[in-house]
Amino acid sequence: MRALRVTDDTAGPGGVRLADVPEPGEDALVVRVRAAGVGFPDLLMSHGRFQIRQPVPFTLGWEAAGEVVHAPAGSAFAPGDRVVTLSFGAHAEQVAAVPEATFALPAGLSDEQAAALPLNYLTAYAALRRRGRLQAGETVLVHGAAGGTGTAAVQVAKALGARVLAVVSTPEKAETARAAGADEAFPASGDWRAQVLEAGGADVAFDPVGGDRFADTLRCMNAEGRVVVVGFADGAIPTVAVNRLLLRNVDVCGCTWSVLATTPTGLADAAAELSRMVVAGAVTPLVGATYALEDGPRALRDLEQRRARGKAVLVA
Ligand SMILES: NC(=O)c1ccc[n+]([C@@H]2O[C@H](COP(=O)([O-])OP(=O)(O)OC[C@H]3O[C@@H](n4cnc5c(N)ncnc54)[C@H](OP(=O)(O)O)[C@@H]3O)[C@@H](O)[C@H]2O)c1
Repeated sequence: MRALRVTDDTAGPGGVRLADVPEPGEDALVVRVRAAGVGFPDLLMSHGRFQIRQPVPFTLGWEAAGEVVHAPAGSAFAPGDRVVTLSFGAHAEQVAAVPEATFALPAGLSDEQAAALPLNYLTAYAALRRRGRLQAGETVLVHGAAGGTGTAAVQVAKALGARVLAVVSTPEKAETARAAGADEAFPASGDWRAQVLEAGGADVAFDPVGGDRFADTLRCMNAEGRVVVVGFADGAIPTVAVNRLLLRNVDVCGCTWSVLATTPTGLADAAAELSRMVVAGAVTPLVGATYALEDGPRALRDLEQRRARGKAVLVA
């Protein structure tokens, strides 16, 4: 089968090649990939800068939507089931899916929309609900709000009954953040801190960007606010002057989606909750550009050059 392989993880998207690789073994839960999400973690892996460094060559991709082509004996799935999966190696024609991270595809979503769900929406849910302890009626500040995790956070926050203030770099991205459901969108190059404060401050901040803006994020948190660190798309990892946390009792915490997997049913419970949000019409992933599998390196470059809006998706 064809797969997108990182052959040189010092070369970024330039080291990613389409290659023929063996299909997953018959002992695995095998999913034929109809659509696969492309996210910043894929870009970081192509540069050898992700937290977990894989030996090269390896197949990229963390998430896919498609149908089961083979299910081992005793599996909860059967051939033909339409599923989404959070499983590594998804930028290929088939993926060996992790059963505990594979779920029925929510009704009403296309394969492209569903492929945007697993990584970003589980991350947004974990960050806002679990780590950020978000309550209905609170205000959430979302950085990078037109990106993959950003649009997911906007939608999950709205579905949980929050008001959303978005920070984005261009007017087009402001449109995307509003289309995702943001109540306000402020330019990253302007005085967004003043605008957030004028809008009443933030109770929870969702930050997949990092860099210089972190100090200003702390300055616009309300009393007992929670800043959730999700990633560093800016490239720079901020440091915290902890005196800023004291006066207003602000928490800073990190989040990866894997926090959901620390209990036996955590991932399934979160997926079920997201599915309910989809069915209720509160969550509809915003697919940006779509690409053929062989154009994966172009998708990675679009993320790297900050051009992507919504979720980049590879389609079969
Ligand atoms: N913790 C987890 O479990 C988890 C899961 C998924 C992803 N992540 C991390 O979250 C971060 C965002 O991932 P993503 O897939 O949402 O990426 P994305 O779709 O590319 O969105 C990232 C956003 O960051 C902003 N940005 C600011 N400076 C940037 C720069 N120098 N280059 C590129 N973008 C920049 C851009 O928004 P503006 O142009 O509007 O500023 C962009 O829309 C990454 O660090 C990723 O590794 C973490």
